[in-house]
Amino acid sequence: MVSKKIDIIKIGGSVITNKRKYKTLITKNLARIIEEIEKSPDKPKILIHGAGSFGHIIAKKYNIINGFKKSNQIDGILKIREDMAELTKNVVNFINKKNLKALSFQTSAITFENQETKVVEIYVEPIKKALEINLIPVLSGDIVFSDRRGFSIISGDQLIELLTSFFDVEKVVFCSDIDGLIVYNKKNEQMLIEEIEYSKLDSINIAKIKETEKIDVTGEMQNKLNIIKKLSGKVHEVVLVNGLVEGRLRSVLNNEKTICTKIINK
Ligand code: IPE
Repeated sequence: MVSKKIDIIKIGGSVITNKRKYKTLITKNLARIIEEIEKSPDKPKILIHGAGSFGHIIAKKYNIINGFKKSNQIDGILKIREDMAELTKNVVNFINKKNLKALSFQTSAITFENQETKVVEIYVEPIKKALEINLIPVLSGDIVFSDRRGFSIISGDQLIELLTSFFDVEKVVFCSDIDGLIVYNKKNEQMLIEEIEYSKLDSINIAKIKETEKIDVTGEMQNKLNIIKKLSGKVHEVVLVNGLVEGRLRSVLNNEKTICTKIINK
């Protein structure tokens, strides 16, 4: 365990890329998000970025998530790795242009899906050491090699669940393209939940959001919620915030009031 409390920030691919157009970085969003992180308290943090159009489109085309079936999928694996490396490089470069120091860790090189599908192992020692010397470790959703099925995809959200077993995590912030947890109330209207206890997550009725699900191989809000439920007892506070709206991420990181959803332990 790293003795200090850390925050984990996930920047969704929907914030920094155009999810529909292959390999389209939204530079101004990335620059702004990094600026908002720079303006947050000087606290150890791990940054995870999603794939957006640098991962999902090719992952879907080659059906990577369901494992090795045909030899042409190898081209998909290579392409995803190459494209994700490019996206990560952009993220790290933007951070290092600021008064911060980031170092990337290739997720597929430190994770492994063992015998049982979905049980993923991670080697965290290098990340711990990087945090100790005040670096910001940067990881991403990626391909993951698998004992049973050759390979699959690991999302940034799954990676967060894994990491929380090894670090003392105070806050996890999911920065995506929606305002937070939107549910149907009794009158069947959509409303944003501002704060909810982990234990109440099973009783809510999540509103269907049109969104980008068709090209998202790792799923949308329901998958995210399933992961968040597993953080109960491990992570003090999980925040869902819209990264497309200027200033909200910065407010969340500075513990200021803003539009978002907080999931807490009571
Ligand atoms: C997906 O990661 C990884 C690949 C498809 C290679 P995420 O699921 O975390 O990415 P986003 O945030 O939805 O884009």
